[in-house]
Amino acid sequence: MIPIRNTTQRYGQIAIFLHWSIVLLFAALIPLGLIMTAMEDSPEKWELYSLHKSLGMLVFVLIIIRIIWRWVNPTPLLPETLNRYERWLAHGVHLGLYAVMIIMPISGLLDSYGGGYKTNFFGLFDVFPRVAIARSKELELFALAIHIYGAYLFYLLFFLHIAGVIKHHFILKDNTLRRMLPISLKEKS
Ligand code: HEM
Ligand code: HEM
Repeated sequence: MIPIRNTTQRYGQIAIFLHWSIVLLFAALIPLGLIMTAMEDSPEKWELYSLHKSLGMLVFVLIIIRIIWRWVNPTPLLPETLNRYERWLAHGVHLGLYAVMIIMPISGLLDSYGGGYKTNFFGLFDVFPRVAIARSKELELFALAIHIYGAYLFYLLFFLHIAGVIKHHFILKDNTLRRMLPISLKEKS
């Protein structure tokens, strides 16, 4: 039985749910962002923009919950096999991924405000409708640059993250991947 909360040995159900739901949202948001920006102006293109913005705001909500949850829970200890440099790398990549998960929704939102566009959450309500950010080309371009470079930073961190997971699961054969999955841990040999 997987505990609800994290322990020092594994991630709990809530952290697992938050990790994988955000992974799914990133897997949709990145291609969506790239496809919609490459499309000719059309009603379909603006539909995809709306969907991208709604899904991106959902990441924003989930990441806030995730950070609070991480704060009030034990963080599973890194495997003892890691040396000082590898610990630093693992923490650095996780911290970088958290930064990307925060920077992307905020820069996207500011890009839209700067362009004078509203952000609606799945047709339910406008996000911060009273935020009086006047239309500003400078803000739009600055936020867009952060959004685009943020995506590049994500590609790099994602590559390192997956390289780490592969190394642990297939070479070191430890519990690193298992403890982020809803399955029980392997006994230490
Ligand atoms: C984790 C969340 C997000 C990710 C990973 C993400 C990713 C991306 C990517 C990869 C692009 C294509 C960039 C390019 O190469 O041109 C893009 C474009 C865009 N995103 Fe996001 N995005 C996120 C959240 C948001 C949010 C919350 C908003 C707005 C509320 C937003 C608004 C936009 C807009 C307006 C564009 C098009 C910019 C343009 O016109 O060139 N994004 N996004
Ligand atoms: C298929 C893709 C992915 C796999 C297989 C994967 C796997 C894992 C695993 C096994 C861990 C646990 C590491 C440990 O025990 O220390 C982990 C942690 C983590 N992952 Fe991923 N991950 C993926 C995608 C992502 C993505 C897209 C993000 C961010 C957008 C992300 C962000 C994180 C963060 C921040 C942690 C640190 C633990 C936490 O605070 O939740 N991962 N991941």
